[in-house]
Amino acid sequence: MSQHNRSNFGSKLGVILATAGSAVGLGNVWRFPYLAGENGGAAFILLYILCVLLLGIPCMICEFAVGRHSHTNAARAFQKMSNGTPWGLIGYVGVLTGVLITGYYAVVAGWCGHYVFASAIGHLDGNPEYFKQYFNDISGDAVIPVFWAILMIVITHFVVVRGVQSGIEKASKMMMPMLFVLLLVVVVCSCMLPGASKGIEYVFNPDFSKISADSIIDALGQTFFSMSIGMGCLCTYASYFKEDTNLTSAAVQISGISILVAVLAALMIFPAAFAVGIEPDAGPSLIFITLPNVFEQAFGGIPFLAEIVSIAFYLMLVLAALTSLISLHEVGTAYLHEEKNISRRKAAWIVTGVCSLICIFCSLSFGDREWLHFFGGTLFSWFDFVTGQLMLPIGGLFTTLFVCWYVDKKIIYDQYTNRGHLSSGTFPLFFFCAKFFCPVCIILIFLNGLGLL
Ligand code: PHE
Repeated sequence: MSQHNRSNFGSKLGVILATAGSAVGLGNVWRFPYLAGENGGAAFILLYILCVLLLGIPCMICEFAVGRHSHTNAARAFQKMSNGTPWGLIGYVGVLTGVLITGYYAVVAGWCGHYVFASAIGHLDGNPEYFKQYFNDISGDAVIPVFWAILMIVITHFVVVRGVQSGIEKASKMMMPMLFVLLLVVVVCSCMLPGASKGIEYVFNPDFSKISADSIIDALGQTFFSMSIGMGCLCTYASYFKEDTNLTSAAVQISGISILVAVLAALMIFPAAFAVGIEPDAGPSLIFITLPNVFEQAFGGIPFLAEIVSIAFYLMLVLAALTSLISLHEVGTAYLHEEKNISRRKAAWIVTGVCSLICIFCSLSFGDREWLHFFGGTLFSWFDFVTGQLMLPIGGLFTTLFVCWYVDKKIIYDQYTNRGHLSSGTFPLFFFCAKFFCPVCIILIFLNGLGLL
């Protein structure tokens, strides 16, 4: 398709909020706190920040450079710059990864949606056993989680269909500030609890003895997932950046927001957990089983406060998930729209249909449906593993290798400095990190994903 009618983000704020919306998601608010809880709190947070600075930002700039140079969808962008060599496959793999991630990500987003509803009608009220049973019943049900997950995909659909400026940008400008307000409400409630100081200390007082090789690998993997690196998402968004957008400062600001949200998420969870004497190392079920119990015990004394905090918390998660789902959906939609020469509406419906189908099976794989269990894992956990541990690292690795070892350095330099209009002082540092440091780190993550480390 010709590129003449391609739109751009309308403002710099739009660029930052939309891209930060992609980065900030369940990865920051659901995955990060439980990883920090399992890996000793503050020390892990520091490790994560280090990984974002040294690994995340250079990778992000690489993807931005490919997207903005090509001004097209991820698949075409890589193909165009690879001159028919196999490097062009990177973009196609990215599109596929996006569709697969949407399929299981929407399931978790749907649980969050259901928990908003459950908090509002007073269902999140009981003892620890009850919360466990409640989560198992809900996630294993054949209808409720499927309904919520598809609802999340359909909401995403109606944002994406409206296009870049009046869909994605407008939604991000509404959702991201709301997300911040809700986040701050829960942080303040949590930090004001009697006994919260132990939790605050846990977030800011590093205990390096808890750091192991596994923690380092976890922090690297988390950096990838939480910054949306390695599947063409950043590349697609950057294709809507204007020529005067400063890629480095955008990457730094987006990473800053992502770190801030992750730290605030920790400040939301740990002070409340410590205040009621619950260990915050419960793993992935932390926010669905441990947290409702924490909220109930911590805020149950004041009428309606537990419900209000709980609604604010899960609504915030829904918003965070939606802005990420929008970016995932856009990768497939832009590809079909531009490559298959079909309308944006039709393209979006196809992506919505495929993702909904995947998400039905991922959701059904909870509960006792043995036919959706493979080699000891649910279909959901396989999608999570294959995309998060394999496809994102591979995509990220090949993107940095492609950008720094194959593409003409002048193209990347031009993108980095906006054709010489910006200072180039940090370019050598960026290029060194992206060319050597990032690939080595990514290979380590990859080997860990395969269980070889
Ligand atoms: N970054 C998102 C999160 O933290 C997840 C995501 C991964 C979104 C890859 C888009 C692409 O939840």
